[in-house]
Amino acid sequence: MKFFVDTAEIDAIAELNDLGMVDGVTTNPSLIKKSGRDIIEVTREICAMVDGPVSAEVTATDADTMIAEGRKLVEIAGNIAVKVPLTWDGLKACKVLSDDGHMVNVTLCFSANQALLAAKAGATFISPFIGRLDDINLDGMELIEDIRTIYDNYGFETQILAASIRSVNHILDSARIGADVITAPPSVIKAMVNHPLTDKGLDAFLADIKAAGIKIL
Ligand code: E4P
Repeated sequence: MKFFVDTAEIDAIAELNDLGMVDGVTTNPSLIKKSGRDIIEVTREICAMVDGPVSAEVTATDADTMIAEGRKLVEIAGNIAVKVPLTWDGLKACKVLSDDGHMVNVTLCFSANQALLAAKAGATFISPFIGRLDDINLDGMELIEDIRTIYDNYGFETQILAASIRSVNHILDSARIGADVITAPPSVIKAMVNHPLTDKGLDAFLADIKAAGIKIL
């Protein structure tokens, strides 16, 4: 399973990237706003740091302008994935940009039928938003399962990029189902290391190290 980091914060990406935890990055207009940076400038910086795909989202809602924006975004670096919304115009832009040989991430996916359309339009990634479905009392994981089944039934190569991840359980469940990629905030990825028995066990070992005066260096 690939790990993408869902942020435009350079320092947070660098910290995880240094540990080999970053297979790619996703951004969106809200994350760009939060960073307070210019979209082109911050995206260029991220692309230079990370080897894998870096998703940068278009701002237009009509296909022609999305295509023009996508063509400008891919000039930033060779690892840009153009992010387009799951609308009819977004699918048109997806088809043109993917036919041109560019990576396209179709975002704001909330149904398996939408995911099917994105795959047929040549999407490199489909981004089903788990957390936002959970927020309205629907089952985000059920959507990931449905898309996995449908893509496997027909051999679609579009990668399932489980997005809007809010907890470590979302990551575990996505891995169990077989999502190709998860994208999560740095804090959620870092929280995967936590286990109370690890803390308890380490405390006991440290007490014994002190009591026995064990030294290595
Ligand atoms: C994915 O590409 C999106 O940027 C992101 O996962 C959205 O997450 P949110 O629902 O927590 O805003």
